[in-house]
Amino acid sequence: MCGIVGYVGKKNAYSILISGLKRLEYRGYDSAGVAMINVQSELNIYKTKGKVDDLVAFCDEKDTTGTIGIAHTRWATHGEPSSKNAHPHVSASGRLALIHNGIIENYITLKEKLIDRGVQFRSVTDSEVLVQLIEYIMQSNELDLLEAVQVALHQVIGAYAIAILDREHPDTIVCARQSSPLVVGLGKDHDYYLASDASPIAEYTDKVVYLNDGDIAVLQYGKTLKMVNKDNETQQPKVKQIDVSLGQLEKGGYPYFMLKEIFEQPECLRDCMRGRINVESNRISLSAVIDYREKLINARRIIIVACGTSWHAGLIGKQLFESLCRIPVEVEYASEFRYRNPVIFPDDVVIAISQSGETADTLAAIELASKSGAFVFGVCNAIGASIPRQTQTGVYIHVGPEIGVASTKAFTGQVTTLSMLALCLAQERKSIPAAMYQEMIKELASIPEKLELALRTNKQIEQLAPIFTYAKNCLYLGRGYNYPVALEGALKLKEISYIHAEGYPAAEMKHGPIALIDSEMPVFVIATRDRLYDKVISNIQEVRARGGRVTALVTEGDEQISKLADYVIELPDTLECFQPLIASIPLQLLAYHIAVCKGKDVDRPRNLAKSVTVE
Ligand code: AGP
Ligand code: GLU
Repeated sequence: MCGIVGYVGKKNAYSILISGLKRLEYRGYDSAGVAMINVQSELNIYKTKGKVDDLVAFCDEKDTTGTIGIAHTRWATHGEPSSKNAHPHVSASGRLALIHNGIIENYITLKEKLIDRGVQFRSVTDSEVLVQLIEYIMQSNELDLLEAVQVALHQVIGAYAIAILDREHPDTIVCARQSSPLVVGLGKDHDYYLASDASPIAEYTDKVVYLNDGDIAVLQYGKTLKMVNKDNETQQPKVKQIDVSLGQLEKGGYPYFMLKEIFEQPECLRDCMRGRINVESNRISLSAVIDYREKLINARRIIIVACGTSWHAGLIGKQLFESLCRIPVEVEYASEFRYRNPVIFPDDVVIAISQSGETADTLAAIELASKSGAFVFGVCNAIGASIPRQTQTGVYIHVGPEIGVASTKAFTGQVTTLSMLALCLAQERKSIPAAMYQEMIKELASIPEKLELALRTNKQIEQLAPIFTYAKNCLYLGRGYNYPVALEGALKLKEISYIHAEGYPAAEMKHGPIALIDSEMPVFVIATRDRLYDKVISNIQEVRARGGRVTALVTEGDEQISKLADYVIELPDTLECFQPLIASIPLQLLAYHIAVCKGKDVDRPRNLAKSVTVE
């Protein structure tokens, strides 16, 4: 979790660090801090509990000069959010400052040893042990910073992206990565930027180096980038071009990133399908399927691993792969899969779905699957992130950076990508008739226009939202392809409005949750016209008979349900398997407007972080 930023060069570091932290704030926002070295070689460290704006207020009228610095926005794992536990952490002598993203698993053992040797700790974090250990090694062995970092990292177990300043070398940042992301931006004058992802770097340079696990980089102003590993073996930096535009990172007039991202979905899905779907020639082409055709079409089984919203997309993927390709599919929470000793066959295809490409549990699941010899395929959004780099191949969803903590456009992008993949494999396996394949391609290509129509429900939903702000609990019901949509709708509401919500397969309701229904309980039912339409109507009747208040998402022109439900939201018609793409829009809007009515900070919900890079 957490965001890391660094700069060394000739510009004022503070302003670069603060604007970078703001771009990374979605990764964590319980406390923040900054460290800079001024021309007198003084190391100034300012930290505070709260958000980046609180840090800016705290730094007002303080010495924020200097052309080198590091900064951090935290999502606490060890130790409460407080200024004492905020990063940067300073070494006992005051010479070094360090920021860390990740978890040091053996910190207690290391800390006890250091305490026995007289080192005093200021915080209760796992991270502080790193800076104390590095300084202790420097002093006791007369090593320079890089050498001490190399020795220290041999003793450390866990996940880290770290960056360190040394007051005695005010032109150099040393940084390292193991299982947590870190990107170095290369400025024109051998000045360097450093961040957890490329978004804080994009406005200064388009040349970046993504550190690999085990890399240690020395960013010295005026010198070429030096990269080594713990054993001092030289590593070759691979310079990549980034193509994130600044507009993609701004709110573009919307009050929240989440709302902007909801409204961007038609365009995002066009980007996702661009160059891949060709309606004229009736073809979908995905380079990963061309390159690894045999592996994919001969899969004995597909195992999907993911977390949260990406897991919901995986549940839709299961239905697509099973019905279109006739390949059996299992969908697993990555966090359970990794510790379960699962049966994995060498001819299984494991698909890891992740917006950020950095989710620690999903990365661990991939590692386990690769070790078992399975073919691992990534469906990711963040270009160059760890998951795309650690999978054999994959497909980017190409929906642009998602900043809102509650995932919206990534979900529809994932479902669109899985739909394309399933159709591609179905065609190769000849598991669906050609006419059906053609109809589906045409329909998928028309989804962005239908999303534009679905977004017109915004006004109606905004007006409905205040009715639900009183609710303590909500139930979301759907069947078939719409069951994962119910789960996703409930997750959105929980995340940003803090109202308890459950998603259920509509017919399962009578096996328990029906006991909860009374006139206080809002029930949202996805009741679009499909194979299970009549069954869902019966489920609505069951809710009504117990006094429940029903809001139904229906296909436009539906007359039956409007007689039964308290409120109906009409949506454009589409094929059953693409219904989740359309039905998720009003549920995203509903969660958004309820949260706004309740005065919640939609983009920064409490206790959450955008990328969960810790397990
Ligand atoms: C969704 O709104 C979430 N904040 C969360 O469940 C998220 O989907 C999950 O952490 C997985 O993230 P990933 O897609 O980046 O791997
Ligand atoms: N484990 C560290 C802490 O609790 C870093 C957490 C993070 O990555 O934000 O401070």
